[in-house]
Amino acid sequence: MIYSRITGTGSYLPGDPVDNTALVAAKGLDSSDEWIVERTGIRTRHLAPAGVAASDLALVACQRALEAADRQPNDIDLIVLATSTPDFVFPSTATILQDKLGITNGAAAFDLQAVCSGFIYALSVADKFIRSGSHRRALVVGAEVFSRILDWSDRGTCVLFGDGAGAIVLEASDQPGIHATALHADGRHRDILSVAGQLSGGQPIGDPFLRMDGQAVFKFAVKVLAEVAEEVVAAAGMTKDQIDWLVPHQANIRIMQSTAKKLHLPPEKVIVTVDRHGNTSAASIPLAFDEAVRSGKLGAGETALLEGVGGGFTWGAALITL
Ligand code: ACO
Repeated sequence: MIYSRITGTGSYLPGDPVDNTALVAAKGLDSSDEWIVERTGIRTRHLAPAGVAASDLALVACQRALEAADRQPNDIDLIVLATSTPDFVFPSTATILQDKLGITNGAAAFDLQAVCSGFIYALSVADKFIRSGSHRRALVVGAEVFSRILDWSDRGTCVLFGDGAGAIVLEASDQPGIHATALHADGRHRDILSVAGQLSGGQPIGDPFLRMDGQAVFKFAVKVLAEVAEEVVAAAGMTKDQIDWLVPHQANIRIMQSTAKKLHLPPEKVIVTVDRHGNTSAASIPLAFDEAVRSGKLGAGETALLEGVGGGFTWGAALITL
């Protein structure tokens, strides 16, 4: 039986952290550090300088993950990159990353779009490629420059997001690293979180900025994250008390606390980076995962539940043992 297993992690955040007070002042927002911290838990975020693209952030995250896995770029035979803020319409950010990494062995490379659930989707896809035997060593990446799609005059959204990238090396193994994954979507809810713009005739058509009905997103997220957590634990044939760590999508501390409570996990077993990263969409879970591994919190042999929810609406979870 072939399984897939995480053998290395890496992440990257651009520039210095920007705190709430500095952001509010710089953008002239009618908001405050107090409001943002109380409603979201976010204190700082990183914003990529002009000219820095998702592939640039992904490159450093992948170099770090490869080093941790003790692998060379040309050992990789599959790149799955989750992003909603790609470098271009095409070519894919995955192929740009492949070139920047110097991967010349013909490895398959493609982007995957599931907004903030993107990394869970990418992990699930790469796991299936590896289990099928078609590929043996994958880079699974989440990379975002969400600052490029924010309306800086909309205080209800622009304070919530940040830029960054996270990556893992996923390899074939005879031991289960990924026990189970579960993916879902319901397009009827596509309007509550969207960037409903497009390029046509050389012009942006429609609204090129992120729009969100925050309360509708909040309610939906709390409901589906609890459901998918139960589902993936059952699919793995495991029980909730076998979960050592929860590594959730980092959107709002209150959503994470609600999920942890339903799993009977104490707050100290939840990996939290939203306070320092904000919501980095598809990058948030691998960023948090890498931080947990590098800080020594999440150790070899421990089991973690990864889960995310995002525009579409999409949601999913993965149960893994490191
Ligand atoms: N500063 C000050 N006031 C603000 C701000 C701000 N940054 N943003 C909104 N407000 C105001 C609103 O205008 C409103 O004012 P009003 O009463 O005068 O109309 C008031 O605060 C309350 O607004 P709500 O939207 O009801 O505030 P809420 O408590 O719901 O918090 C928030 C808003 C933080 C966005 C919350 O709904 C939330 O976190 N939702 C989930 C968002 C999320 O998780 N998104 C990402 C998930 S998917 C993905 O990651 C892509």
